[in-house]
Amino acid sequence: MRRRPEGADEVSWDPEQGVPDPQPLEGVDAIVHLAGEPIAAGRWTRARKQRIRSSRIAATRQLVASLAGLDQPPRALLSASAVGFYGDRGDAQLTEESPTGEGFLAQVCREWEEAAAGASQRGARVVCLRFGVVLSPAGGALARMLPAFRAGAGGVLGSGNQYLSWISLDDAAAAIAYVLSDEDLHGPINLTAPAPVSNRDFTAALGRTLRRPTWFSMPAAVVHGLFGEMAKETLLASSRAVPQRLLASGFRFRHPELEAALGHLLAPARG
Ligand SMILES: NC(=O)c1ccc[n+]([C@@H]2O[C@H](COP(=O)([O-])OP(=O)(O)OC[C@H]3O[C@@H](n4cnc5c(N)ncnc54)[C@H](OP(=O)(O)O)[C@@H]3O)[C@@H](O)[C@H]2O)c1
Repeated sequence: MRRRPEGADEVSWDPEQGVPDPQPLEGVDAIVHLAGEPIAAGRWTRARKQRIRSSRIAATRQLVASLAGLDQPPRALLSASAVGFYGDRGDAQLTEESPTGEGFLAQVCREWEEAAAGASQRGARVVCLRFGVVLSPAGGALARMLPAFRAGAGGVLGSGNQYLSWISLDDAAAAIAYVLSDEDLHGPINLTAPAPVSNRDFTAALGRTLRRPTWFSMPAAVVHGLFGEMAKETLLASSRAVPQRLLASGFRFRHPELEAALGHLLAPARG
């Protein structure tokens, strides 16, 4: 976090100011590195794209550089990445072995993961957490969708055929804890539920959960006109990633299916 520390257990670091003070990292077991300029908060201006890149790639390089002088560097670095690594891939099922895709986000994810990998030279186990869309009513994509869906104005975006790789916030947190404790896991790990859904199915499931109609739809040209390149690479792009490595390692999802996940996440808020 970049704000001033509010207690003895907090340390601030603003990557724009350079390499973090390495001292607080001396002897810690692991770093979970999640910082990065929000991706889908609005149109990608040139300045926003620059912040999206530098807050991930340059910042991760700085973090790794700060490990150099430590007597006892962290034994693990879990660094965020995203299913954006795979690009827009239609119906193809994407595992950690799938090749990277094209576009701005795929390029950012590649360089972000390469930057994190540098920590292995300091003896750390490096894991790149390729998050799907993390579902929580408290923030992120679902929170941004809720007002329109609650007003009965939710609907399909573009063709609706594009896949959405999602994970409930509970499962994302549990998977991070699981990866921290399983020292055999390293490299890329898809943090996505086992059952990605199309935008059309997601829309219908959210409407049913909220008991609201989802009759509206927004043609791709309109979505693109409103949000530009950001829409092309996120809202309209198709990502059908599956958590092959988490499942193979024995991780059990609390919310493997979307509708049960939405029911759990939105239970107190249903109208
Ligand atoms: N949430 C998702 O659906 C999702 C999906 C795919 C990938 N991811 C990735 O997973 C990571 C965590 O996601 P999240 O949703 O928890 O992210 P978030 O809340 O949007 O951001 C995480 C933290 O990044 C810091 N940050 C924001 N802008 C920054 C900047 N310009 N420079 C340095 N730090 C900055 C903020 O810390 P302070 O403001 O406290 O400094 C913030 O608390 C992100 O890297 C994100 O790209 C998330």
